[in-house]
Amino acid sequence: MKIEVVLTPAELPALAGRNLRNTTCVVFDVLRATSAFVTALRNGAKAVVPVSEIAEALALRQKQPDVLLGGERGGVTIRAAQTGGIDFDLGNSPREYTPEKVRGKTIISTTTNGTRALRACAGAKTVLAASFLNLAATAKFIKKLPPAQVLLVCAGTHEDTALEDVLAAGMLCETLADDSTAWKLSDAAEIAQCVYAQAKSDLAAAVCRSENARRLLGISELRDDVPFCLQYDRYPLVVKRAEGVAAFVSVT
Ligand code: MLT
Repeated sequence: MKIEVVLTPAELPALAGRNLRNTTCVVFDVLRATSAFVTALRNGAKAVVPVSEIAEALALRQKQPDVLLGGERGGVTIRAAQTGGIDFDLGNSPREYTPEKVRGKTIISTTTNGTRALRACAGAKTVLAASFLNLAATAKFIKKLPPAQVLLVCAGTHEDTALEDVLAAGMLCETLADDSTAWKLSDAAEIAQCVYAQAKSDLAAAVCRSENARRLLGISELRDDVPFCLQYDRYPLVVKRAEGVAAFVSVT
């Protein structure tokens, strides 16, 4: 059983050429796409469908007018000026995905890195969306399988590595290693685990030094997203791509 880690989004295009048929991919975009997905599903959303482009989201809305449109560009909610007239219903702050807004709804989401990373895993047997919020449940789910190959995908920021995603991947490596399964770690997985081991005594401080956290902390209405996304094990649910479709649903 092997654990590998994709540390940077620059590695994502290569996934299309890999045989992932026996691989479980776990995608982290801690700040904030996968944290928002987990929260939406925990709060009763029916499904979240990640799409790469705004135009794809708008096309799906035309076919299914009752879906909600969510996501961000430049960290903020997508507005009519970017879409030719339609304001998105939700941004990418997990705090927006309240039961009142999302219960029973399908959400079409497009974000800068998170949705791109989820789509890059299209060929995988199983794809999970994870964050600190559901990391414990995700680890438990993987331990029960356990798959021959686990690929932790750090969504990053634009083309760069994002520290918070590497920390979450490192935490998952450490949590998985903590049982009898003989996991073999790739060098990138060793790197993630070392980074996490060094930071874990004050994880919040490490995350707050990341570029993404500093950006969010500098925007008054988004500042609270950082402590929200840092809550470990808040939601005991696994977010998994549904069989045969590109939608993510919760499995508890
Ligand atoms: C992304 O998908 O790139 C992010 O989650 C960005 C954000 O939420 O600001």
